[in-house]
Amino acid sequence: MRMVDIIISKRNGNELTDEEISFFVNGYTKGEIPDYQVSALMMAIYFNGMNERETLTLTRVMADSGDHLDLSAIEGIKVDKHSTGGVGDKTSLALTPIVAACGVPIAKMSGRGLGHTGGTIDKLESFNGFNVSITTDRFIDNVNKIGVSIMGQTADLAPADKKLYALRDVTGTVENMSLIASSIMSKKLAAGADAIVLDVKTGSGAFMKTLEDSRALAEEMVRIGNGAGRKTVAVISDMDQPLGNAVGNAIEVREAIDTLRGAGPEDFTALVYKLASLMIVLGGKAKDEEEALGMVKDVVRSGRALEKLADFVAAQGGDSDQVYYPDRLVVSDKSVTVKAGSDGYVEKIICDEVGVSCMMLGGGRASKEDAIDLSVGIRLLKKRGDEVRKGDDLAVIYYNDETRFGESCEKLRNAYMISDVRPSDSPLIKEIIK
Ligand code: URA
Repeated sequence: MRMVDIIISKRNGNELTDEEISFFVNGYTKGEIPDYQVSALMMAIYFNGMNERETLTLTRVMADSGDHLDLSAIEGIKVDKHSTGGVGDKTSLALTPIVAACGVPIAKMSGRGLGHTGGTIDKLESFNGFNVSITTDRFIDNVNKIGVSIMGQTADLAPADKKLYALRDVTGTVENMSLIASSIMSKKLAAGADAIVLDVKTGSGAFMKTLEDSRALAEEMVRIGNGAGRKTVAVISDMDQPLGNAVGNAIEVREAIDTLRGAGPEDFTALVYKLASLMIVLGGKAKDEEEALGMVKDVVRSGRALEKLADFVAAQGGDSDQVYYPDRLVVSDKSVTVKAGSDGYVEKIICDEVGVSCMMLGGGRASKEDAIDLSVGIRLLKKRGDEVRKGDDLAVIYYNDETRFGESCEKLRNAYMISDVRPSDSPLIKEIIK
């Protein structure tokens, strides 16, 4: 088999055989096929797509390219969650302790972020001493003792995806439905959970900008998960404005803690409660979503969810006092306020502009090697639909580097679109795909 023939075949719009897919994935992972040929193939796939069978095969081959995590030593139905990502998405930080407090074991591998803010793993490092690089044995032990553990993704989990995703990132070939679905699901299948809840974002800050494309991606991933014997459900949720009010790292952790205390922003709380309810039903701890929602509210009201976060942080070497005293999570005390330039209503908050504004402050990585400043960030004081008067505060920027905040403020100001007409309500949760 020759790589050039596979490229030509896909370039000409043909289906790839299972053997051809295995050949290029395994050859690339082993370093036997050069970047330039795989780049060409990714571009051919980007333009010509893959059908269901090709996508499923690609997922399986990537999942099998490294180890599969064995979670059989953990009792109960393990439920994993994945978000396709967006601005202000700190969902896992609040969701996982809630679900664990309701009795569903959470053994989750998460990634570092590239882009606007850090990923879950970076955000967790806002707790002093928190260790994301624990051994798999300790990870499993912690889940058995506490009910929840989150660790960084190990190098041997779906290594083919790791290489391919990095290549796609620099060759303009990320935004293809089959490539995204297979990339995400290969990692989820290798991570060993019995059931999976997916949060597929839709809107200006998402990979998929339209509801139609987001639905197609969600359906594809649900099909892959169920086809692999993992009960999979997807929620399609709004990413046309940042989620919640906090964007950054430590500042997002504080907001997740507020939410565990029952005092989080309305949109973020609604999403966390919905995802948690679905996970609890999949985990067999409630007969339906209504019962599960009652359990969620109960663990928040009683403080058991917050306690679960404190136990989880302590078990991974972190300072659990910061859970009870979130002001001790370091957010920069240098701040500047962005003000409205006119009267009207907030018609739109362009997610990407907010994200880039945060990245410019040092809150996210432009390249994998960059360090993140966990203490910088943005607090949105106005969200879509809010009425504003010229000179009102729209958002606060927390910065450290004086040379960076000017450009960052400009981006944030541009993110806010003010109009004379109040925009119509847009539901946070658009659809559930089962
Ligand atoms: N997240 C992933 O893990 N892979 C993609 O292709 C896109 C988002």
